[in-house]
Amino acid sequence: MKYSYFLIALCLTTLQTFAQQAQTAEEESVENKITVLLSKMTLEEKIGQACLKGTSSRSKGLSDELKEQVRQGMVGAILNLTDTALVLQIQKIAVEESPNHIPLLFGRDVIHGYKTIFPIPLGLSATWNTTIAEQTSIVAAHESYARCINWTFAPMVDVCRDARWGRIAESPGEDPYLASVLTRAYIKGYQGENLSTPGNILACTKHFAAYGAVEGGRDYNTVNVSESLLRNVYLPPFKAAVEAGSATFMTSFNDVNGVPSSGNTFLLKQVLRDEWQYGGFVVSDWNSVTEMISHGYCADEKEVALKAATAGMDMEMTSQAYAHHLKTLIEEKKITEEQLNEIVRHILRIKFRAGVFDNPYFKEKDSFKILDPASLELARTSAIKSFVLLKNEKQILPLSANKKIAVIGPLAHAPKEQLGTWIFDGDKTNSITPLTSLQQTYGAANVNYAAGLKYSRDESEEGFKEAVAAAKKSEVIVFFAGEEAILSGEAHSRADISLPGAQEKLIQALAKTGKPIVLVIMAGRPVTIDRILPNVAAVVMAWHPGTMAGPALADVLTGKENFSGRLTVTWPKTAGQIPVYYNHTSTGRPADSASFVGIKDIPVEAWQSSLGNNSHYLDAGFTPRYTFGYGMSYTSFSYSNILLKQNVLDKNDSLYVTVTITNTGTRSGTETVQLYVQDVSASIVRPVRELKAFAQVELKAGESREMQLHVPVAELGFYTNEGKYVIEPGMFNLWVAPDAAGGKKQTFEVK
Ligand code: NOJ
Repeated sequence: MKYSYFLIALCLTTLQTFAQQAQTAEEESVENKITVLLSKMTLEEKIGQACLKGTSSRSKGLSDELKEQVRQGMVGAILNLTDTALVLQIQKIAVEESPNHIPLLFGRDVIHGYKTIFPIPLGLSATWNTTIAEQTSIVAAHESYARCINWTFAPMVDVCRDARWGRIAESPGEDPYLASVLTRAYIKGYQGENLSTPGNILACTKHFAAYGAVEGGRDYNTVNVSESLLRNVYLPPFKAAVEAGSATFMTSFNDVNGVPSSGNTFLLKQVLRDEWQYGGFVVSDWNSVTEMISHGYCADEKEVALKAATAGMDMEMTSQAYAHHLKTLIEEKKITEEQLNEIVRHILRIKFRAGVFDNPYFKEKDSFKILDPASLELARTSAIKSFVLLKNEKQILPLSANKKIAVIGPLAHAPKEQLGTWIFDGDKTNSITPLTSLQQTYGAANVNYAAGLKYSRDESEEGFKEAVAAAKKSEVIVFFAGEEAILSGEAHSRADISLPGAQEKLIQALAKTGKPIVLVIMAGRPVTIDRILPNVAAVVMAWHPGTMAGPALADVLTGKENFSGRLTVTWPKTAGQIPVYYNHTSTGRPADSASFVGIKDIPVEAWQSSLGNNSHYLDAGFTPRYTFGYGMSYTSFSYSNILLKQNVLDKNDSLYVTVTITNTGTRSGTETVQLYVQDVSASIVRPVRELKAFAQVELKAGESREMQLHVPVAELGFYTNEGKYVIEPGMFNLWVAPDAAGGKKQTFEVK
């Protein structure tokens, strides 16, 4: 018996070694091919590989200038060329007419779907579901490949703690652990097991780095972070992307502590190449290289080229500092040809690994279907799982089938807006709106529709009368509020993140009818709703749900499906509270309800006392409206028997925690079990809680299941301000909880 185990183990080890050798041999052969190619390329052609040319998706054909540049080998990749015939035409020029026959890459922002549009990434993160993340990326990859795109500028993995920032819509939320887990899943979805398999496309992890930390949530703004904050909060998803094999990285627009990312040697050389051993290539963001002049980091385009190339920025997007100056810089010996060779090697390595030399014309592309019924079904499921039920007074939801409902609000029938930001190829004619689906579900005669406002920013009260009349004829009002898609995303930061236009006024007018209001919010960020919260019985956060918003919302509103989404970003009471996030440090004067003094509690002419002098706001308190991880369900869950396998652990151990989850309600549902820890005292202060593991479980009414959560002690450390990763011995607190504020505290020790 023992002998046969030994034989199996030996065979497996031998197979593994062969596999490793094969991989190494394949990699070696790629490196050799690159060396041969480099020896044949002129300086101009090498520089050409580092140029990513933009085209307008609206332009009718290919310019003669672009064709000529490709013919001469002066272009490495093209972005936004979406006419497949033109892609194939220009690729043919590259392959057949350019001096070394190097094929081009074709890039595009395929952020949450190509034609089948899934929820915005912030919504997808609220599923806490890696299968959904992976599957939606597979569909996005296949649809893109079918249209001759082999490189997506996704995933965007910028951790963000500020809902004012428009790009929070594209982000995985505020938690570095969850963001890292999702990042791996997205990359696996886009790239598959093998980059060169037809249908798989290159991922581009962006925006390196700390773009989510722009001051005041204003896009493109400056970023100031300590090295520990950078490494503990903003870098983990990027590190995960390297481990997951992300073929490319994109730099960010912002500066980090005074140095723009596109010329940042610390980020691009020290962290990415030296520490993480990254082998793919780095592309700049749109003109972010030449923007180093506006930043005040470079005097002119030539200095831009010098600083970017020296820092390790491989491919320049749209601006032309490399094309204009790299050759001179080499002639002047400010940059060596070896440095340029290294840049080109990174790019060619990915072209070889992606198989574009063997498959430049997108073989089998027609076997990948656009808007396939299975993809639309996935869009529906992912939207359902992304919805977060935030309030449900007197269990107003679900709405029974025989109800007469008023469908009101600017987002009820807005096919374009429900798709969200960054949907270049999304088409509103494929959208199914909530109004359409609710009419189908409840019967057109039972649905009284009046938009009330034409669009989210509409200030006019003209439509109020009709909306109130529709409400009066109904038993319940479902109000579809939110933001148009254009109010979030790049360059669309807001200082006031309440519902725009006259939406609050309309809700208040409708509340006067006495009919209960179900508020469904479709927006690219959490919106502050405190002024109208007392007027509404239920609140559903639907994000921008994508093509299948209507059917998905009908499914949860009618109770056909249950809610399971959980917030991945803290929901503020007011924008003045921002930044507000769950994994903050505790301060020397942590706030608590016992000592809290609100603005109304202070007597006139009160003496400047130290009473209540804790870290809080007089007017907004010290808690958010809804905490990270929060979300309700049509059923309820209890947590019991939370047991730690060991209470004293070694640095090489793993923390194992078991918990029994019971569905204590009357219908089946999914619970997301979250494990948080706190390093009680350390050489630098640590957050009050940090998510370290989570697991989802679907349970029938009355059903119980024991779940096991597991965290290697190696993952309980942190980076110091000197950039050193340390696991410090001492006491830790632990919570197994349904959100970042719940759970009963337990403790363990790391020796
Ligand atoms: C600018 C955006 O910041 C980036 O995310 C995007 O991929 C590029 N433009 C290309 O469109």
